[in-house]
Amino acid sequence: MEGGAPAPPCRFFASALVSPACDAEALAKAQVRRAKADRALGVEPSRSGAAFFLFMAGGVGMICALMGVERQSNRCFPLSGRRVFVAGHSGLVGSALTRRLSDENGAKILTVSRGELDLRNGPAVTTFLEKERPDAVIVAAGRVGGIGANRKQPADFIYDNLMIEANVIHAAWKAGVRRLVNFGSGCVYPRECSQPMRPEQIGTGPMEPTSEPYSTAKLAGMIMCDAYRRQHGVAYINVIPAGVYGPGDCLDPERAHVVTALMRRFHEAKQTGASEVVLWGSGRPQRELLYVDDLAEAVLLLLERYDGEAPVNAGSGQVCSIAELAACLVEVTGFKGRIAWDTSKPDGAAAKTLDWTPLRQMGWNPRTGLAAGLRRTYEWFASRVSE
Ligand SMILES: NC(=O)c1ccc[n+]([C@@H]2O[C@H](COP(=O)([O-])OP(=O)(O)OC[C@H]3O[C@@H](n4cnc5c(N)ncnc54)[C@H](OP(=O)(O)O)[C@@H]3O)[C@@H](O)[C@H]2O)c1
Repeated sequence: MEGGAPAPPCRFFASALVSPACDAEALAKAQVRRAKADRALGVEPSRSGAAFFLFMAGGVGMICALMGVERQSNRCFPLSGRRVFVAGHSGLVGSALTRRLSDENGAKILTVSRGELDLRNGPAVTTFLEKERPDAVIVAAGRVGGIGANRKQPADFIYDNLMIEANVIHAAWKAGVRRLVNFGSGCVYPRECSQPMRPEQIGTGPMEPTSEPYSTAKLAGMIMCDAYRRQHGVAYINVIPAGVYGPGDCLDPERAHVVTALMRRFHEAKQTGASEVVLWGSGRPQRELLYVDDLAEAVLLLLERYDGEAPVNAGSGQVCSIAELAACLVEVTGFKGRIAWDTSKPDGAAAKTLDWTPLRQMGWNPRTGLAAGLRRTYEWFASRVSE
């Protein structure tokens, strides 16, 4: 910490949340911190930089702060030529990120398999990052699963996620990485959160109990990122995606995300000629679904241009109930039987939809409609299971 001054308070994670209406002084301090981080990053401040801020702190800056957006230069961290370590590159999100990074941007992708580096092993992670010294890190590794897996292995969910986040974030900072994207999750919001959810609502109520160990670890990772940016002036940011789906998901039923898990059930029922598929819960919970390549595009945009303490929601506006999703998947897979709902099983949170206004204001919009995304995912799925 510089000059022994206390790190500024976090606006987004305290259980007694600080009002989002921060004052001009706090905004000015945030701007100074950001300018320091930009200098450290070798980033040219945009021409409108500090002068703009000083003039507008009481006006536009305040409006931006209220909306959870901090003013950004247009292209503050161009990816071209940078080495980006994607932790968890074989997963749903990580594989889309590496696809996207290799398609464009001219970035150099750094990956390592889990067999070579278990991210729960702190010293090994430190050695790896100190040797490789990437320019940026994306933490897309974690233990992820549905309600069943979360209930069966709560200890694994909290331990693995805490260890991965703690090891990667800390080792990245030690290795001099100035830019990092960490993933939160919609389940860090309170179970009874008003919809669509906004970052300032985090910590205002108890989380959904079925996934609490996982959510607690995700929230800890987010707070850790924020703590490192406040104490060390690094550009470590948090992204909270909606329910992600698409090619690249794990086919193991225990680990697959909701779309692939349901798809698999209908696909197998079609293959075996089963007349009924029984699904957990009532089918009523509302979920927002985001195609994974759209998320990857949002993440790279944020990596290049966003350096704010507010977590950024990445939603899609494509909201449906689990029953509606199942009906779409029946059509996509060609299953001819009926769906039965086992209401003795838990539903999870009643609704999980995100307010993603800040990303929209940065010019990002998801390109993939739900019907097209599900068809594309099924094409990928069918080709994988027939291999
Ligand atoms: N998908 C969503 O709907 C969603 C929504 C919100 C937030 N997120 C967050 O986004 C991130 C990525 O999620 P995802 O959906 O892409 O998960 P995923 O498909 O399960 O992928 C997880 C990745 O992490 C790797 N990994 C797990 N444990 C590891 C360890 N101990 N050492 C090294 N690598 C390890 C996995 O490697 P192996 O394949 O080799 O095991 C895999 O590459 C997670 O932080 C998740 O919490 C996802």
